Amino acid sequence: MNRQKRRPVIAGNWKMNLTPQDTIPYAAALTAELSDRADSEIILCVPAVDIAAAVSAFSKSCVRVGGQNLHPADSGAHTGEISGPMLAAAGCSHVIVGHSERRAMGESNELVRQKLEAALRAGLVPILCVGESLQQRENGETDSLLTEQLVSALSETGPELLRRVLVAYEPIWAIGTGRTATPEQAQQVCAMLREVLRRQFGESCADSIRILYGGSMNESNAAELLARPDIDGGLIGGASLDPGRFLRIVRAAD
Ligand code: PGA
Repeated sequence: MNRQKRRPVIAGNWKMNLTPQDTIPYAAALTAELSDRADSEIILCVPAVDIAAAVSAFSKSCVRVGGQNLHPADSGAHTGEISGPMLAAAGCSHVIVGHSERRAMGESNELVRQKLEAALRAGLVPILCVGESLQQRENGETDSLLTEQLVSALSETGPELLRRVLVAYEPIWAIGTGRTATPEQAQQVCAMLREVLRRQFGESCADSIRILYGGSMNESNAAELLARPDIDGGLIGGASLDPGRFLRIVRAAD
C-alpha cells in the first residue's frame, strides 16, 4: 500500500485542559467550518469528564472522541481508574496509550502493552505514543529505544488488530516546548518505525499502519511535516485547544 491509501489522521490531545462546558462552543466553531466528509480522520482526545459532553457536541459531525488513558483491566476494584469498556460505552472510538507524560509517572513498556491490548479488546483504536528524551537522542539511543517501545507494545497483538493501531512518534524534547522536530528528523524516525513494523510484522502491516508525528505541531509547521511520505498525521496538544488553530491543521492535512 502506498502513502495515498493511508488516510491522514489529525488527533488533538487536550491533556488536562477545557471543561465539559467548553466543548459546546469549541464544537460549534470547529464543525461550522468542516464538511461532513473531511479527507482526514479527526479525533479529539479529551479529559474523561468531558467525554459525554464532547460525544454529544460532535454527534452530528465527523469528529470522533477519544480518551487519554485507560486501565489494563476491564473492571474491578481500581479506585479512580477508567476501563476500555467504559470509554467505549461513553462513546469513545480511540484512546491514547503510553503518552510520555504518563511514562514519566512510571508507566513501563509492559504496562503500555497491557493497556494497548485492553483498548483493542474494548474495540477502541489505541494511539500508541513512543518517544525519546533529548538526552537519549544525544546519546544515539533513539532508534533502539523507540524500537523497544514499539515492539514490546505490539508483541502480543495479532495482525488483524495490529492494523487498527495508530502509532504516534512524539519526541519528548518537542512536546509543549515550541521546539518541533524538523520535517527531516520526524520523517527519518517515522520511516525507521515503519521499517521496524515491516521487519517484525510484515509488509502489509507496515504499509497500512498509520504513523503520526506529535510535538509542537501547529498551523504553521503542519503542512511541511504532513507532506513527508511516512508521516500520516499529527497528535496535537497545545494547538488543539483552540478550534481555529486545530482547524487550520486539519486543512493542512487535507
Ligand atoms: P504539544 O503536545 O503539541 O503541545 O507539543 C503534543 C502531545 O503531547 O501529544
